[in-house]
Amino acid sequence: MQTVQQLLQNNNVDTKLVSAIDAVLEASKEISFLLQKGAMSGILGSAEQENVQGETQKKLDVISNDLLKDILKDCPVVAGIASEEEDFPVPANKDGEFLVIFDPLDGSSNIDINVTVGTIFSILPSNGGDASVEKTYLQSGRNQLAAGYVLYGPSTLLVMTTGQGVDIFTLDPETKEFVLTDAQSTITPATQEFAINMSNQRFWAEPMQNYVADLLAGETGKLGKRYNMRWVAAMVADVHRIIHRGGIFMYPWDSRDAKKPGKLRLMYEGNPMSMLVEQAGGMSSTGEMAIMDVQPETIHQRVPVILGSKEEVEMALSYSK
Ligand code: AHG
Ligand code: MN
Ligand code: MN
Repeated sequence: MQTVQQLLQNNNVDTKLVSAIDAVLEASKEISFLLQKGAMSGILGSAEQENVQGETQKKLDVISNDLLKDILKDCPVVAGIASEEEDFPVPANKDGEFLVIFDPLDGSSNIDINVTVGTIFSILPSNGGDASVEKTYLQSGRNQLAAGYVLYGPSTLLVMTTGQGVDIFTLDPETKEFVLTDAQSTITPATQEFAINMSNQRFWAEPMQNYVADLLAGETGKLGKRYNMRWVAAMVADVHRIIHRGGIFMYPWDSRDAKKPGKLRLMYEGNPMSMLVEQAGGMSSTGEMAIMDVQPETIHQRVPVILGSKEEVEMALSYSK
């Protein structure tokens, strides 16, 4: 069976980019093994400190961030890193060519209940810029050279793109290699499944309220088909389901906090997931424009997210026209 390194080599991916990807995968394997040991590795529970976004960190948010940071800083091709759990960008190697941006642990509210979590990553060119300053990282998602996530579920999976479609790999616990198990995965254009945190309903804008009301009306409403709903509270797991069997995932704009136009983060979650979804033939939008066309203004900026099966996303967007 083909390993991820063999596939990247066959696809003629720049060997330097491959070594940056390898560093991410090395750290993700460590995270995966810690998760498998669970309570025995002392990783569960709160770290009793907050990140720059005012969220209480879990121990594993901190541990996985440190693992990624340490391995990436030692990787000569990496110029710098930016993480959801770091206040500021961290410079790495002055001759490095890549910026690695990550959400070390997505869905961290799931850790303590033994439900799926993941690591999301995005790789940008450094273009010779100063990797100690935020400005160097403020590139649109269209500049991404690679994006992906590692999903820590019943199996540990890697879902990745370097701009040549989306491939899915499974971590073999015996050889500790990611092997190709689903090549060139695509998202079905129409489905009957949606994912949204319904408890925020009253805070959404009117077009979103109307769209979700029609989803709920099912075959009796104007969409004319019955929908099912799923919400794992880990974007990695919700997006993974969509890559597998289609659907629409939404964390739309809401009025809870004027400083946060959406909960999810553009650089750590929105952009990498959008690259995967577009590469798999799906669609991804803020509600107003393609997420990957957003010009970031700060590294921790939030963005409304509507992504998944193309026809479903187009239908959702049609409500605001
Ligand atoms: P993180 O654990 O990195 O902070 O991300 C959690 C995100 C995302 O994964 C998920 O879709 C969403 O937050 C869940 O939000 P709710 O708490 O509103 O369900
Ligand atoms: Mn996250
Ligand atoms: Mn996180």
